[in-house]
Amino acid sequence: MFGEHILHGGDYNPDQWLDHPEVLEEDVRLMKEANVNCVSLGIFAWAALEPEEGKYDFDWMERIIDRLGEDEIQVVLATPSGAMPHWLTQKYPEAMQVQADGKRNLPGKRHNFCYTSPVMRKKIHAIDSALSERFGRKKNVILWHLSNELGGNFADSSCHCELCQEAFRDWLKEKYGTLDNLNRAYWSSFWSHTYSDWSQLHSPAPHGETTMTALTLDWKRFVTHQMSEFTREEIAAVREHSDLPVTTNFMYFFKGLDYGKMRDDLDIISWDNYPFWHKTKDEVPAAVKAAANHNIMRSLKKQPFLLMESTPSSVSWREFNPVKRPGMHMLSSMQAVAHGSDSVQYFQWRKGRGAFEQFHGAVVGHKNGSNTRTFRQVTELGERLNRLSGLIDGTVNRPKAAVIFDWENWWALEDASGPRQDISYIDCILEHYQAMWEAGIDTDFINMDDSLEGYSFVTAPLNYMYKPGYAEKVRKFVEDGGIFATTYFSGIADDTDLCFTGHHPLADVLGIEQEEIDAPSEEFPNSFCYGDKTYAAGNLRELIHAAEGTEVVSVYEEDYVKGEPVVTAHSFGKGKAWYLAAAAGEDFLRVFYKDRLREAGLENALGAELPYGVTVTERVGDGGKEIVFVMNFRDETVKFPAAGSWTDAESGQKYGGTLEIGPFGCIVLKRD
Ligand code: GLA
Ligand code: ZN
Repeated sequence: MFGEHILHGGDYNPDQWLDHPEVLEEDVRLMKEANVNCVSLGIFAWAALEPEEGKYDFDWMERIIDRLGEDEIQVVLATPSGAMPHWLTQKYPEAMQVQADGKRNLPGKRHNFCYTSPVMRKKIHAIDSALSERFGRKKNVILWHLSNELGGNFADSSCHCELCQEAFRDWLKEKYGTLDNLNRAYWSSFWSHTYSDWSQLHSPAPHGETTMTALTLDWKRFVTHQMSEFTREEIAAVREHSDLPVTTNFMYFFKGLDYGKMRDDLDIISWDNYPFWHKTKDEVPAAVKAAANHNIMRSLKKQPFLLMESTPSSVSWREFNPVKRPGMHMLSSMQAVAHGSDSVQYFQWRKGRGAFEQFHGAVVGHKNGSNTRTFRQVTELGERLNRLSGLIDGTVNRPKAAVIFDWENWWALEDASGPRQDISYIDCILEHYQAMWEAGIDTDFINMDDSLEGYSFVTAPLNYMYKPGYAEKVRKFVEDGGIFATTYFSGIADDTDLCFTGHHPLADVLGIEQEEIDAPSEEFPNSFCYGDKTYAAGNLRELIHAAEGTEVVSVYEEDYVKGEPVVTAHSFGKGKAWYLAAAAGEDFLRVFYKDRLREAGLENALGAELPYGVTVTERVGDGGKEIVFVMNFRDETVKFPAAGSWTDAESGQKYGGTLEIGPFGCIVLKRD
């Protein structure tokens, strides 16, 4: 993405050491030693860059950028809106967020700003523009890092101040035109919640309205809209004197903002990855979750992304924080590259001595300089990334399978007062995706607005909401030969959470009618048979009816639904649509997806049956470049048969018939 180099480095916060120039000098020396070629500067540096209102001090930053440049270290330059200086919050308290309960925050933490606040927007515009003027054309500055983890840090990532309420009402007026339209969309006649004046609309709040699901949905949409507007202002400011690309670092399954709506404003997608490695001896759940997030980020633009942060060792904010055991730093970093990242960046370069993140893993710790296990692991990874840079340049993953993952669906599904209060969209998505991960099938994660073209298989677990136009898209996909799968509690409501009446929007494609959904307790087990095995039906079970011509593949084996369909298949046009009426465990999903992928003509890059803990991805480029990554998330050597003959892209070793990968190993192969 940036020439031949995979970026390697991370957040560098030298404003912690400005009174220790010898530390800064040592940093550059150690960065070279660790094969670091890129750092992110200035992420939380507002107080150092503008110590007093309107008085900028950029000289220290310039010295550091230049010093890094002398050693050919590139700079990702941040705008400082991630944290507010005290002079700002003291003079303009209205720039701080108001929580849902109506209380204005006190100064502190990060992301405490109201994204609607004109003062905040003016102040950030001014400093962004000044940074752009001073540094936006420097040779070793390559990318704008807007803010930091937008929406992060407070439990509710939104601001409920009066300015935001007004902006919300304007947004609603623009969306609905009339209160009649809004009232209809919100089904507000129920409980006498009919709005008769726009000023009666207020954000959802614990001491106010929490029961109007369409209002909550719109509020979440508005928050994304407003944050995007704030971000666009930052973009305009940095663009005043610079045409460098822009990114902002997204987060791990972050529910607060619809990243699908924010992607178009950004040139490059980047994100921060902190999996819980070594939570258990089985690393697969953490690996699957990280893989899913990498795929979400890559799929946003279907382009390589940047891993903007990861820890070289441990984090410091979980209930317990294991360090990465030998091999895991290499493997987890290679995993990012294998899923489409063109960088491995860390939080942070040097551990601070005090304050909140003093114990968070860093490349350089409090003691022993470069003579640490962490430093050696980082150095070793850097060497490897240097070797791989040319190889993966111009490549990205181009899967033929996709999972529908949509923020609005997530919001609506989990907010609905439905059959269970503990439905977790993410858990369900991960259970389904794990089956594909285990099969070594690379998978895009796309939302309902995305095109389905180019995929052979699409699965849509818990697809509760159907956005306008989505059903038509799926219908065409199946008609044209695609294999589609979806589950219980799908096709239930439209985009303002009004339930569909009559039929499932894809009833004709799926060949089923839904009747009721049961959420039984554990004392009412049920099961179904698929292939030659019996599987447990989980805690959500639909009663559905198969239309004529629909194949009933599995039926409930017990209770009042005995004999009713659980798994159905329906041919439609040139394709086939599958429906899974009951929740089911990994044992079933593994088998079910293996069959669906085969049906869609998909096999993994190695044409191999993979042992548990091993997966495969592939990055492809123009001119037939195919780079295959084989990852072993087990802390022991695995050996398995693989079709074809392969060359290890790094060592030149030839493999024919059998592959062998060491504990937490990752090998990079070229097809012979
Ligand atoms: C986030 C932030 C960083 C740092 C790390 C620590 O990703 O962006 O500033 O707080 O977490 O894990
Ligand atoms: Zn506000």
